[in-house]
Amino acid sequence: MGDTLKIAVLGGDGTGPEVTREACKVLAAIAPLENFKFETTEFDYGGERYLKSGEVITEQQIDEFRQFDAIYLGAVGHPEVPPGILEKGLLLAVRFQLDQYINLRPVKLYPGVDCPLKGKGPEHIRFEVVRENTEGLYSGAGGFMRKNTAQEIATQEMIATRFGAERCLRFAFEHCRQRKDRNQLTLVHKTNVLTYAGDLWFRAFEEIGEADYSDIERDYNHIDAACMWFVKNPEFYDTLVVPNMFGDIITDLGAMIQGGLGVASGGNINPDPAGCSMFEPMGGSAPKYQGKDVINPIAAIAAMGMLLRVVGDQKEESNLVQAGNRVEEAIAKTTPRMKSMSAGKMGYSTPEVGDLVAEAL
Ligand code: IPM
Ligand code: MN
Repeated sequence: MGDTLKIAVLGGDGTGPEVTREACKVLAAIAPLENFKFETTEFDYGGERYLKSGEVITEQQIDEFRQFDAIYLGAVGHPEVPPGILEKGLLLAVRFQLDQYINLRPVKLYPGVDCPLKGKGPEHIRFEVVRENTEGLYSGAGGFMRKNTAQEIATQEMIATRFGAERCLRFAFEHCRQRKDRNQLTLVHKTNVLTYAGDLWFRAFEEIGEADYSDIERDYNHIDAACMWFVKNPEFYDTLVVPNMFGDIITDLGAMIQGGLGVASGGNINPDPAGCSMFEPMGGSAPKYQGKDVINPIAAIAAMGMLLRVVGDQKEESNLVQAGNRVEEAIAKTTPRMKSMSAGKMGYSTPEVGDLVAEAL
């Protein structure tokens, strides 16, 4: 990184730009406090652009993101664009081409946030999910045979490579160690049925853990059981490592127990020192709320906080890490003042919540 943090900002569709604006407001508020300079460059990729031009994003345009220290994405999804086009053409294309092989999703119940689980508070819900982000059922392997006939066959293959599992597992072990919580890493899979892919992951987990992470306690859950424990005893978890599709599903469950999609954020991370990562709130573009300023920007602001921590860590800029931590603290001071995390029920408008976080800094 030069002396300026360079961020490519994709507000995207629907309410994406509204929450992105609040995240950038908080970025502007923290920068002078932690003494760093930043520069944001906006891009209009998303549904509107696709409807006008017929193009989502080209390989060359994705390559241009490599000049930035990070990408910030508001939301993609447009009611007039058929499903799959923006998801595969933009979100997954960026994840794959920039080899963002980690999807890091904290499940954290902030103070004052209503939890749908009876008797659970912030001390019970404070774990992080490390989702593999380039393989598994997302690889695109498979296809049709005899399409549109009565004998049609479709296959969709779950790809597990030792290379892909290993780099994800190593990141998860390191991340677990860095969290300094309970030093416990839970692998989630379905080894009782997926006896090939699950076996590869399980053996890699055991071998890497045994050889290099003897300080980390290894734990294993089947995916169905993990769903049950998320609801019954979320306090069991410190760090989880999960293949792509299971990680996609279980992090939506995680989002609900932390108060909903208005709070949940994630980072698509390429941990290489020169890697370009992308940070986003987990919620969608919520077209029916567009223009009303009622969407909760907390998730978007938390994604900006994560951007600062991850990029700071990667580029060894401790003031950025500190800035990210301060954004987290400011969020924790703001959530108790809000009536609800749901759209339209916060007791504040979207920009007012952004102001509260900025003031809390
Ligand atoms: C997510 C989303 C994406 C995924 C979709 C939009 C392709 O659900 O980021 O979790 O499945 O990864
Ligand atoms: Mn998802």
